[in-house]
This record gives sequence, structure tokens and C-alpha cells, in this order.
Amino acid sequence: LDNGLAMTPPMGWLTWQRFRCITDCKKYPDECISEALIHRTADKMVSEGYLAAGYDYVGIDDCWMERNRDKNGRLVPDGTRFPNGMKGIGDYLHSKGLKFFLYQDYGNATCAGYPGVLGHEKTDVESFVSWGVDYIKLDGCNVELSKMDTGYPEFGKVMNESGRPMVYSCSWPAYQDEPDYKSIMEYCNLWRNTDDIQDSWASLTSIMDWFAERPELVKYAGPGHWNDPDMLLIGNFGLSVDQAKVQMAVWSIMAAPLMMSVDLDTIRDEFKDILLNSRVIEIDQDELGKQGVRVWNKSKCEIWTREVSNGYAVAFVSRRDDGAPYTVAVTFDNIKIPAQNYLVEELFDQEESRTFSAEAGKFESRINPSGVKFYKFTPMQSNEVKITG
Ligand code: GLA
Repeated sequence: LDNGLAMTPPMGWLTWQRFRCITDCKKYPDECISEALIHRTADKMVSEGYLAAGYDYVGIDDCWMERNRDKNGRLVPDGTRFPNGMKGIGDYLHSKGLKFFLYQDYGNATCAGYPGVLGHEKTDVESFVSWGVDYIKLDGCNVELSKMDTGYPEFGKVMNESGRPMVYSCSWPAYQDEPDYKSIMEYCNLWRNTDDIQDSWASLTSIMDWFAERPELVKYAGPGHWNDPDMLLIGNFGLSVDQAKVQMAVWSIMAAPLMMSVDLDTIRDEFKDILLNSRVIEIDQDELGKQGVRVWNKSKCEIWTREVSNGYAVAFVSRRDDGAPYTVAVTFDNIKIPAQNYLVEELFDQEESRTFSAEAGKFESRINPSGVKFYKFTPMQSNEVKITG
């Protein structure tokens, strides 16, 4: 969507993956979808450096509303959990230099059963504008699939006519068997392509496979329009530190939106470091906006390659579980990058930098089980290779 927004993949934090639809604040005061959760998260986004690293949207996913609209047909945020309403949330986030991301659903009801926008499009966009919303995720539960091809563009038009710039994230293709991606990229800034991510290595790798098997999708990604493989699991219950690095690396290769969904008050430092790795974020946010692909897959090891403005990002991922780190040795042809001289840096600091050229034989990488080595290949002049190599 050409609205000047999301020129690089959006970054931020969203409630759903970690906090789901927890609404009982008596029983779960630290976890319920509420103003308190958003405030403490916003505070940490600023004080712990997430905002400075580029994570600027803070999002409330499903389960923020009352079950019914008011007598004027307007959406009502849950009065107990959001005592200062959504305007209060917008103001708080903006006062911290953050942006407000809110979930709704194109159908009659959200996936969790709260009121959806269908039949109330204008009124709801007016509400979003008055609350200071900067980003809408429009889900696709409880509506006929055939309505989506016209409905998502129409809702985007209402958003656009409101005059308030808002990122438009559509779940439109995630529900359809044969999505019209040409139309989707024209009307949406990003779109969820497939099933929801869950807190496990199995779910993560199934989404990786889904994208690896559909390399034709990369042509729809670029500044202003992105594929969305869903939220980052990093820092929660299901991924090890090595597996968390895999998600961060592969999501960056895929030019994916980086939406954290984790308790920022209790996240362990080793996961925080992964989320805040500036060199990896730089790959994700590369201005060319070219989504990368899986180029090699052998012996349960994979190579994912993405062209970036000053070289190539290359992730060596192991999906092995046999114990010791596994060594792969590959050619330029396997990595699918031009044969030339490179400075090669491992972006998680798991290895010393090295130089590599066509004469050097095969490129070796030793990868932990369910882990990653994430390299930046930067082209060098041949005389530089002699000096440093
Ligand atoms: C769907 C979406 C999820 C989340 C839930 C909320 O399943 O795909 O990302 O928004 O709805 O109910």
C-alpha cells in the first residue's frame, strides 16, 4: 500500500502471543489485557532500549472491548481494564514517543467473539482516529471469505479518507486458499499469510517451511508492503536461546515485521540481547526491502539468503537434534551469492570475523543443534583480502 507508511517492516510489541485473551485481572493482575499491562510495557520499551532499537509500535490485540457496542453503535473498551479508555492509551503511548497499534476484525465478531467492524466501518474508523491509533491489524474471523476481496480494500479506503496515517495490516490472505496477492499488496501495508504462530520450535519451523516452499511470495514484499510470518516468540516458554536466534535471523532474512510479544518485566537478558541485536535488526530493516529465501536444504541444515544494500545476509540453520554442533561446507553456488571476496561477520558474535573468496575452497560453518550462524557477507576489494586475510 502506497501510503508512505511501513517503508521498512514495522517493529514493536503486541499482546497476543504471550498474553492471549486473559481478561481476569483479579486472578491474573500482571497478565490481563489492560491499561496496566500497556503502561508497564511502554515504560520498559523506553527504559530498556527497545524504542531506541526501532521497536516503536505498542499493540493491543483481541479482547480489549466490551461485549456490546454503546447506544450510538460505537465500540467500547472494557471499562474495568481500560479505565481511561483508548484515548488514554493513545495519549500515554504518544507521550513516550511510541505509536498505538490496535486490533479489530473485518467480520461480525473478532476471533475471540467481541464486536467486529462489519456494518460499522465509518464509525469505527472515527473511533480509531479519535483515540490516536497509528496501526490497525484487521483480522478475518466471522465473515464470508468471498467478501474479503472487496471488503478489505473498502475498509482501507475509509481509513485513508480519515486523514490519519495508519498502518494497515490485513489478515485477508491468511483465510483464503488462493489469495490475490497483487491486490493485497496494493491495499495493505502488511498481511498475515498463514496460520497463527504458537510457542514452540515445531510451530516456528512449520512457518519457516511454509515460506520456504513458496518462494514466489517474495516478489510481493517491498517498502510499504510486507509478508507477515507472525509474532516473535523470543523470551517466552517454548524456544531455547539458540532457537530464539533462529527466529530472529530467519525473520530478518524474510524482511518480516518484528513484533515482540513477551513480558518485558521478566524477560531474561540472553533473550533481550537477541531482540536488541542492532546488526540483525539492520538486516531486517534494510532499505532495499528485498525478502530472502531458503536456498539450500540438506542433512537437516538449511541456508537462507537475502540480498541487502551492502552485501548479503546468510543464515545457516540447523534443525538437527543429534547433539554436537554440525559442520556444513558449501560453495558460493550453494549460498546463491556471487563468487567474489568478502568480509564475513557472524552477527550474534558466535565466531570471529573472517575473509572468504572463491579460491578459499568451501565455506565451513559449524551450527548448534536447532541453532543458527548468521553471517553478513560484505564484498571487499581483492587487495583488502590480502591485508586482513
Ligand atoms: C487470530 C489471529 C491472531 C490473534 C487472534 C485473536 O487467530 O490470527 O493473531 O489476533 O485471532 O483472537
